[in-house]
Amino acid sequence: MSPTIPDLALAVIGGTGLYQLAGLEDVESHQPVTRFGAPSGPVRIGTLDGHRVAFLARHGEGHSVAPHLVNYRANLVALQALGVRRVLALNTVGGITARFGPRVLACPDQLIDYTWGRVSTFCEEPGSEVLHVDFGDPYTPSLRHAVIAAAARSGVALLDGGCYGVTQGPRLETRAEITRLARDGCDLVGMTGMPEAGLARELGLDYACLAIVANWAAGAGPVHDEVITIEEVVANVEAASSGLPGLVSALLAG
Ligand code: HPA
Repeated sequence: MSPTIPDLALAVIGGTGLYQLAGLEDVESHQPVTRFGAPSGPVRIGTLDGHRVAFLARHGEGHSVAPHLVNYRANLVALQALGVRRVLALNTVGGITARFGPRVLACPDQLIDYTWGRVSTFCEEPGSEVLHVDFGDPYTPSLRHAVIAAAARSGVALLDGGCYGVTQGPRLETRAEITRLARDGCDLVGMTGMPEAGLARELGLDYACLAIVANWAAGAGPVHDEVITIEEVVANVEAASSGLPGLVSALLAG
């Protein structure tokens, strides 16, 4: 296991289309191995406007790890062992309700977990205490508020709130599934929000999600039968992400 890095307050976990943090300087790479195995890839630790920050690509830097196969426990335990206390999760998602169209950035305050068959707790470890962590607010309110304030300071438009429906993937959803998610109250749909948020809570990490809307979810946009392509997803994530280094820097300075 790598030694703890002093002053490493924050980690950013990047999702689809976000495999590095622009503006990160003096980068050191760590390849930690945890009791759950190796994380998705190297943890890149560098300096952004004078503050230390860690970055980990959730799907690996070459996008080789599917959402249901991400070793969420190893990723979070590796970051925590390096000294991280706060995690900003970047999640590429589809938009369901009208305000959450392509290229919108949102900081959801709720989620619904539709995933199955993923290891979703640390309580499976032999001899571990059975935890029933409070999860009424799945994202740490103080970190959410700090992210929203940092967005305002850095001039990045960010929607405050929304419900993130987390599906199993890796296929995209049917139109009927999205209609059901909308009925359930979901504004956004993605594949990686859980179990990451729940595991972070079990570890006692502060955790917030910054969702990047890459496309209208199936049947949700103005064109009912539009086909979603990876090219569209990546282009919209790139376009929507230009303000992220400034936002992260403002959060670190915060
Ligand atoms: N559905 C699920 N996950 C996603 C989507 C979507 O439409 N877009 C990007 N990630």
